[in-house]
Amino acid sequence: MKSTNLISREISVIGLGAMGSTLARLLLRSGYRVTVWNRSIARAKALVEEGAVLASDVAAAIHASPIIVICVHDYKATHSILDTAAVAAALSGKVLLQLTTGSPKEAKDSEAWARERGAAHLDGAIQATPSQMGRPDTFILVSGMEPVFRQCEPVLKVFGGNIVYLGSAVEAASAMDLATLSYLYGAVLGFVQGAHMAEASGIGVDTYSSLVADLTPTFGEFLKHEGNVIQSGNYTVSESPLKISVEATERILQQAREARLNTEFPALAASLLKRAALAGYEQEELAALIKVLREKTDQPTTVA
Ligand SMILES: NC(=O)c1ccc[n+]([C@@H]2O[C@H](COP(=O)([O-])OP(=O)(O)OC[C@H]3O[C@@H](n4cnc5c(N)ncnc54)[C@H](OP(=O)(O)O)[C@@H]3O)[C@@H](O)[C@H]2O)c1
Repeated sequence: MKSTNLISREISVIGLGAMGSTLARLLLRSGYRVTVWNRSIARAKALVEEGAVLASDVAAAIHASPIIVICVHDYKATHSILDTAAVAAALSGKVLLQLTTGSPKEAKDSEAWARERGAAHLDGAIQATPSQMGRPDTFILVSGMEPVFRQCEPVLKVFGGNIVYLGSAVEAASAMDLATLSYLYGAVLGFVQGAHMAEASGIGVDTYSSLVADLTPTFGEFLKHEGNVIQSGNYTVSESPLKISVEATERILQQAREARLNTEFPALAASLLKRAALAGYEQEELAALIKVLREKTDQPTTVA
């Protein structure tokens, strides 16, 4: 593999959707010479007016810079863009900074694919929306070979102040992305259920959501503690016995039933907690719930 220029201010961005355009714009504003390419050329117009160079084709975009940022809809789109002989020839010696969201397997396959073409590869999972990019508190999870990470770090720092390098196993960023998304969607389900319950009780949903936002740092602190409990394997009660949550989720379910509200989410939460209680974890820390998830049996996921 040819060596790449460690202090280059030249960069190419492939994919100019909401996120890719934002990345290209942030780079332009940071003084990079940005070459762009997008399937639909019209999307490049505004960026060209701001100083970007529009490549005539994908291979030209790759030729233009040592680091190539790609941020398109999914890996299928990535392959339809990059799987050509001209691109393969252009990729040798380049660094592919893959910011398209994908699975751990896709990240591994993409790294192997790049390696076969003489290119280095770094995988990143963006934890923010386009309007949240470029802030000191913007998180991006990154994994891949450390020298490649070091080479891309200045570019990543343009995209966000919180760059979390998860090590050389390239699939780590997407695996962690799925873990944080699991948390997010669990929280979204609970949040929407709470909004459903608040409005049924005549409480303004705006009042409820402000309260949730204000409580979130305290909840975050609690979740961090529960994570430490799981990591240590010591479930002796230190903050909150699981029993309290068995009763709380049962109350939420009961209220949803009495108010004739949707019960799907409360039923799931109450069911999992009840299973943990039946398994004998009531007097352990709440995090012991993970022992139920770890069960490798074909038993049903709900308790009647
Ligand atoms: N937006 C967010 O809040 C957010 C947050 C975190 C991560 N991400 C990730 O960032 C990536 C891009 O998201 P986005 O919000 O920029 O999406 P988007 O606005 O929908 O843009 C999608 C991009 O993918 C391209 N594309 C789609 N299918 C293609 C194909 N078959 N061949 C070639 N190009 C194709 C589009 O090209 P055309 O313009 O030609 O259609 C466009 O450049 C995704 O993986 C997403 O998960 C987004």
